[in-house]
Amino acid sequence: MNKLVYFYTPGGELVNRLLTEAGFEIVNGNGTVDHELLAKCDALVPGKGVFRRDLLEEAKNLKIISKFGVGMDRIDIDACTELGIWACNTPLVNYVAVSEHTAALLLAAAKRFLPVVSRVHREEPDWFGAHKFTSIELMGKTLALIGFGHIGQRVARLFSTFEMNIVAYDPFADDSAFPDYVTRVHTLDEAAACADFVSVHAAGEKSTEHLIDAHFLSLMKPTAILINTTRGFVVDEEALIKALQEKRIAGAALDVFNTEPVTGRNELMCMENVITTPHCAANTPEARLRSQRDAAANIIACFNGERPPFALNNPIGVSKSDKSDE
Ligand SMILES: NC(=O)c1ccc[n+]([C@@H]2O[C@H](COP(=O)([O-])OP(=O)(O)OC[C@H]3O[C@@H](n4cnc5c(N)ncnc54)[C@H](O)[C@@H]3O)[C@@H](O)[C@H]2O)c1
Repeated sequence: MNKLVYFYTPGGELVNRLLTEAGFEIVNGNGTVDHELLAKCDALVPGKGVFRRDLLEEAKNLKIISKFGVGMDRIDIDACTELGIWACNTPLVNYVAVSEHTAALLLAAAKRFLPVVSRVHREEPDWFGAHKFTSIELMGKTLALIGFGHIGQRVARLFSTFEMNIVAYDPFADDSAFPDYVTRVHTLDEAAACADFVSVHAAGEKSTEHLIDAHFLSLMKPTAILINTTRGFVVDEEALIKALQEKRIAGAALDVFNTEPVTGRNELMCMENVITTPHCAANTPEARLRSQRDAAANIIACFNGERPPFALNNPIGVSKSDKSDE
C-alpha cells in the first residue's frame, strides 16, 4: 500500500509531483487537525500547525515530519525523538528571501519610507510635509546582528557593501563563521550599546523567548532602530512598544509579532516610526519551490531507509543507514 503523506495545508505542485512520482499518496488538510488522518498518516508536512506531544502520540504510523522552512518552534522535537519520528525542516530555502526582506525593512526604516510615502501618495501630495522627515545614511553606522546563522550571515554580506560597521552576537556560532568584515561581540549588552541598527536573527525557539527584553532596549541608543524578522516572541513586544512610545529608541521594522495573524488594533501598526510587514519575508516563489523540493527529499529518503538530509534528531528505535552526521 502507498505511504500516506498528510499535508496540514496543501503543499504545492512540485512537492505533490515529486512525492506522487515516488509512489506516495497525498491527502491535503484544511489547516485544522484532522485526527483521523493524523492517526493513519506515515508522513506529515505540518504547515503552520502546532504539533505537541499529545497530537504526536495520536499519530501511530507517523515516521517523519518534514516542515517547510527553518523554524521548528511549533513542533515538539523531543517528543518526536521519543516516539521514533524524524523531525526535519528545510533550513536552506528561505535565507535569501528573508535576508533581502530584512535589508528592505532596514532601508525603509532608515529612509523613512512609511511617513514620506504616505504623505505623497495622496490625491493632494504633501510634498514639503514629507521633507520634514530626514533619513539616515548607513555608511559608517553600526549594524548589530543578534544571531549569526544563515540569515544573519547573509544580512552581514549585504550591508557590508554599504560600508557599515558590522558586529554580531551568537554564542553558538563557530569562530570560522565570522568573516573579516564582521566583529564578533560576546555579550548582548555590548551589541545593544554600540548599534545604530539591531537586526534579530537568532533561532526562533523556546530558549530565545524575550532575548530582546526591556534591559536590552534600555541599552540601545535613542537614535537606534530595531529590526525583527525571526519570530515575534524573541522580542518582548510590550517592552518594545513602551520603548518606542517613550522615544527611548527611534524606530522599529518588523515582519513578525507575538500573536499572528494580527487582528484588530496593534500599537505597533499605529506608529509612524514603525514599519511592519505581515510575516511575509520568505514569501517568494523561489523559496517556495526550494521548500517543496527539500521537504519531499526528506520524506523520500526516510522511506528509502536513509537518514533524511535535513533531519534534526535521531529518533529512538530508528536504524539509520547513513550516520554521517553523528
Ligand atoms: N520572517 C520569516 O518569514 C522567517 C523565515 C525563515 C526563518 N525565520 C526565522 O529566522 C530564524 C533564523 O533563520 P536562519 O536560517 O538564519 O537559522 P540558522 O539556524 O541558520 O541560524 C540561527 C542562529 O541563531 C543562533 N542562536 C541561537 N540562540 C541564540 C541566542 N540565544 N543568541 C544569539 N544567537 C542565537 C544560532 O547559533 C544560529 O547561528 C529562524 O529560526 C526563524 O525563526 C523567519
